Amino acid sequence: MAAACNSKYFRPVGRSKLKKWAELDTFERTFQAGPELRKGNWAKDVFKNTNPITAELGCGRGEYTVALARLYPERNFVGVDVKGARIWKGAKASNTEKIVNTAFVRAQIDHINDWFEQSELEEIWITFPDPQPQDNRARKRLTHPVFLERYRQFLKPHGLVHLKTDNTALFEFTMRVLDELKLPIIQQTHDLYQSPLYEGILQVKTRYEEIFTDKGENIKYVCFQLI
Ligand SMILES: C[S@@+](CC[C@H](N)C(=O)[O-])C[C@H]1O[C@@H](n2cnc3c(N)ncnc32)[C@H](O)[C@@H]1O
Repeated sequence: MAAACNSKYFRPVGRSKLKKWAELDTFERTFQAGPELRKGNWAKDVFKNTNPITAELGCGRGEYTVALARLYPERNFVGVDVKGARIWKGAKASNTEKIVNTAFVRAQIDHINDWFEQSELEEIWITFPDPQPQDNRARKRLTHPVFLERYRQFLKPHGLVHLKTDNTALFEFTMRVLDELKLPIIQQTHDLYQSPLYEGILQVKTRYEEIFTDKGENIKYVCFQLI
């Protein structure tokens, strides 16, 4: 054990992170435990309305979730990320500014089905997911068939999945998966900003989108269904 503590496996958590993790528990509509209490109860207990619910998976600091919630007050948005110190930013803003149509979940997306019931969500955004380029990590890609099957279990039958990425390999991987699974593609582009699709909600940029755009990367986008 002592050897492990001195090794690369032991990474002490800074005080600022610990403080943020603890503060998450004090925010309204921010959850990092008790998925079984939320599952099937988001409309009734969390949002207290029956407006459609969208999740952003891998929301990072939650800027996109908050921006969409401000733009679409008649819808509800849940940002999900495993990094507590990141979602703290969006959760804090939502809590302070009382943006009542947002919620945040700190969880592994691998366990997302613990949080949402069948047909509970209408849309999913997967925004600039980690590309996981190594072959032996393909199953970690958020558009791998294993993940799509998880999403299918809680998305409404005609619900939409949106993927935005700068990463060509991940985009092509996703398009191959959609082809192999014969899933309907609603819209797609290899260069969003030069495409007629670049309007409305697709003009809202995530934090990583800003970073990659500044580096001159083309933004790829696909919207599909899991029927
Ligand atoms: C590159 S960042 C993108 C953040 C944000 N969507 C944006 O576009 O600015 C990817 C995020 O996905 C999260 N993430 C990756 N895999 C995850 C998983 N299996 N479960 C939960 N979060 C995950 C990471 O913690 C990270 O915050």
